[in-house]
Amino acid sequence: MKSSVRGRVVCRTWVGGAALGVPAVAPSAAGAVESGGHVFVRRVAVVGAGYVGLTTGACLASLGHQVVCADIDVEKVDRLRRGTLDILEPGLAELVAEQVSAARLSFVVDVADAVTAVPADDPDGGRHAEVVFLCLPTPMGVGGVADLRAVEAVIEETRELLAPGTVVVNKSTVPVGTAGRTAELLDRPDVSVVSNPEFLREGSAVQDFLHPDRIVVGCDTAEAAERVAALYARLGAPTVLTDAASAELMKYAANCFLAMKLSYVNAMAELCERVGADIGDVTEGIGYDRRIGQAFLSPGPGWGGSCLPKDTHALLQVADAADFEFRLLRATIDTNTRQRQRIVDKVRQAVTGRRTGSLTRVRLGLLGLTFKAGTDDLRDSPALAIAALLRQAGAELVGYDPALVADPADPDRAAVHQVDGVTLVSDPLEVAQGAEALVVLTEWPVFRTLDWPTMAGVMKQPVVVDTRNLLDPATLRRAGLTGIGLGRREA
Ligand code: UGA
Repeated sequence: MKSSVRGRVVCRTWVGGAALGVPAVAPSAAGAVESGGHVFVRRVAVVGAGYVGLTTGACLASLGHQVVCADIDVEKVDRLRRGTLDILEPGLAELVAEQVSAARLSFVVDVADAVTAVPADDPDGGRHAEVVFLCLPTPMGVGGVADLRAVEAVIEETRELLAPGTVVVNKSTVPVGTAGRTAELLDRPDVSVVSNPEFLREGSAVQDFLHPDRIVVGCDTAEAAERVAALYARLGAPTVLTDAASAELMKYAANCFLAMKLSYVNAMAELCERVGADIGDVTEGIGYDRRIGQAFLSPGPGWGGSCLPKDTHALLQVADAADFEFRLLRATIDTNTRQRQRIVDKVRQAVTGRRTGSLTRVRLGLLGLTFKAGTDDLRDSPALAIAALLRQAGAELVGYDPALVADPADPDRAAVHQVDGVTLVSDPLEVAQGAEALVVLTEWPVFRTLDWPTMAGVMKQPVVVDTRNLLDPATLRRAGLTGIGLGRREA
C-alpha cells in the first residue's frame, strides 16, 4: 500500500498492526519485539502527567513500551512515585503500580530527563526518547488561538535535546493548526510533529485507551505517522492516517457531534412531554437503526464536563475565524443552555404546582453533583449550573454525591469538597430531611437502591425530579413518592 502522495499522508484506515507491517503480538519479557526488521517497542517520553498524560503513559507501558513521564509538579511526581494518584479513574492506579514495578514506567520532574534518560535497567540504556507525547494544557486563548505557553516552555527546554528523527506527538485537544505552530516553534526540520488526539472518556479512560474505536494519527509525513500508529499496533484498532489539521479537526468533530446528539435528545424529550410520547421508547426505537446507534441517547440536565462545553465553543470559534456560520453547532449549545432553565422550571412546577412558582426559602435536596457518574470531576457540571440557578431563585440547597467528601473526619479522603451555595452532606438521608423536593442530577447507580420509603418519610413533600430518568417510577410510587422525569409518559 502506498503510504504517501507527494510526501503527504493520505487518509487511510487500517485494522491492526498487520497492515502496518508489524505483527500484533505481545512484547517479549524483555519488552522489545523485533519482527521483519521492525522494532515497535519504543522509548517514549510523556510530558504532563495529568489525566491524559498519565493514562497514555501507563497504557503505552502496558503495551510494552518504555515510558518516562515528566510533570512540572514536584509533589505530584512524588505522589506518583509512591503510587498515589490525584484522579479517580478506574483501573489506572493498578496499571500505574503494575507498570512501575515492571520497570516500564517511571516519573521525573525535569522534562529534559524524560527525553534523554531511559530507565537504568533498559537493555538499550542511555538512548533518547524516540517519541515524545505532549499531554499539556492548551487552553483556548483570545480569538480561538491556542494558548501554547506550556508547549512553548517544554519546547524551549527540549529542542536542543531531541535526537534527530524524534517524533513529537500532540495528544491534547488543540485548535486546528497547532501541529503546524508546534513545528514552527520547534524549528527542527529533523523532528516531526504529529497530531494523535485522545478519545478517552473520564471514568473509562483506561478501557477506552486499550479498546479504542479508532486511532487517529495526523502528520504531513508518512514515516512519522506510521511510527506513531505502530505504537498502538497491538490494539488491533482501525487506524486513520491523515494530515495534521484533519486529525485536529476530527477530535472537535467527534465531541461536537456527541453534544449535538444529546441536545437533540433533550429537545425530543421536551417534545415527548408536549405530545404525550415517551422518550425512553422513542430512543430505544431509533437506537436500533444502526446509522443512529443506542449510545448517547439518554436525556439529562444538559451535557457538561471539561470537554464537550469547551470543544463546542472552540469549534464555533474555528468556524467564525473561517467565516463559516455553523448554525447547527450554535443551536446545539443554545439548546443545552436552555435545558438548565427547563430543569429549574420543572422543579418550580413540581414544588409549587406552577411553572413560575416561587422557590424562595424552599429546601431542596440535590442527589449528585459531578458532571456524570463514575468521576469526582465537577468542572462544568450541569448540576452546578442548575444549583446556581436554583440558588438565584431563592432555594436552600443540600447536596449529596458519592464521589464528594463532605465530612472532614473522613479518613479515606485527602480533601473536603466545597460547592458554592450547596451544603454538602455525607448521607443521602440528610439530603431528604425536610426537603420539599429531591432533584437527581447525576446518574449514580447507587441512587436506584436508596431506602426510598425512609427517604420519603423524612421529606416535607414527597417529590423527586429525576433529570436523568434514572429511578424506577414504580419503586418511587411504592415508596409514596411522586417521580417526575424528562419526556416520560407518566403512568
Ligand atoms: C468526552 C467524550 O465522550 C470523549 O470521547 C472525549 O475523549 C472526551 O470528552 C475528551 O474530549 O477528552 P467526557 O467529557 O469524559 O468524554 O464525558 P462524556 O461521557 O462524553 O459525557 C459528557 C456529558 O454528556 C456528561 O455531562 C454526561 O452526563 C452527558 N451525557 C452523556 C448525557 O446527558 N446523556 C448520555 O446519554 C451520555
